[in-house]
Amino acid sequence: MTGSTVLQARGLTRQYGQNSGLVRAVDEVDLDVPAGQTLAIMGPSGCGKSTLLHMLGGLQRPTDGQVWLAGRRIDTMSERAAARLRRDTLGFVFQAFHLMDELTAVENVELAALLAGQSPRRARRRALDLLDRVGLADRATHLPSALSGGQRQRVAIARALSNEPLVVLADEPTGNLDSAATLDVLRLFEELRTTGQTLVVVTHDARITAVADRVISMRDGAFADDSQLVSATAGTVYNGLR
Ligand SMILES: Nc1ncnc2c1ncn2[C@@H]1O[C@H](COP(=O)(O)OP(=O)(O)OP(=O)(O)O)[C@@H](O)[C@H]1O
Ligand SMILES: [Mg+2]
Repeated sequence: MTGSTVLQARGLTRQYGQNSGLVRAVDEVDLDVPAGQTLAIMGPSGCGKSTLLHMLGGLQRPTDGQVWLAGRRIDTMSERAAARLRRDTLGFVFQAFHLMDELTAVENVELAALLAGQSPRRARRRALDLLDRVGLADRATHLPSALSGGQRQRVAIARALSNEPLVVLADEPTGNLDSAATLDVLRLFEELRTTGQTLVVVTHDARITAVADRVISMRDGAFADDSQLVSATAGTVYNGLR
């Protein structure tokens, strides 16, 4: 892990509604994610995980506070500039997948790389490799409508990695997976960890902590606990899952 911070938030806050209906979905969160870290943010349903992740990726505006992605302030950027910064630095796995219905699995995965200007050949090769790593080599030419929920989720994970992004933000990436598919995804995350990829995963799946360097517990929009794990221990726990 190197020292530079690739993702940073200060006083990050998002409110919904007003007066008696006011919800502080995310409440003054400070966060520093160093390059190469695998961070798991855990918490119960409704505690603000998706809202936090969307703000970190510049997909949703905070009510208050600041976010820097790759050293650039993303929360005040124009939509267009934020989209460009995301294209160049970020892979996002949505809780609801958001695949393009009219594109096959492999076309969905390679799209981000093509938009960023990679050669079609190289983008296709990487997309097929990623699909293979999430256990979907034989589903590459299927449309999302011909895939199960868990298979779509794995396509969404492969897609987030297609462009070799600086940071991957993943929202509940194993929420629809059985234990075999979860293991495929954990193995992939473990591999990413060893290659120095920065990964932030929000989840209520405790198995994710097996491949994390750091675990933050979230309650009612705020961080309740922040612990650094010893990487060697993470490896051991992970081995226990096989
Ligand atoms: N558009 C909205 N309008 C009003 N309240 C919202 C809106 N979106 C989210 N909330 C509220 O904000 C809180 C945080 O929601 P969020 O989706 O971030 O939770 P989460 O931790 O991702 O939950 P889950 O684990 O179920 O995905 C919840 O109480 C939710 O009801
Ligand atoms: Mg959520």
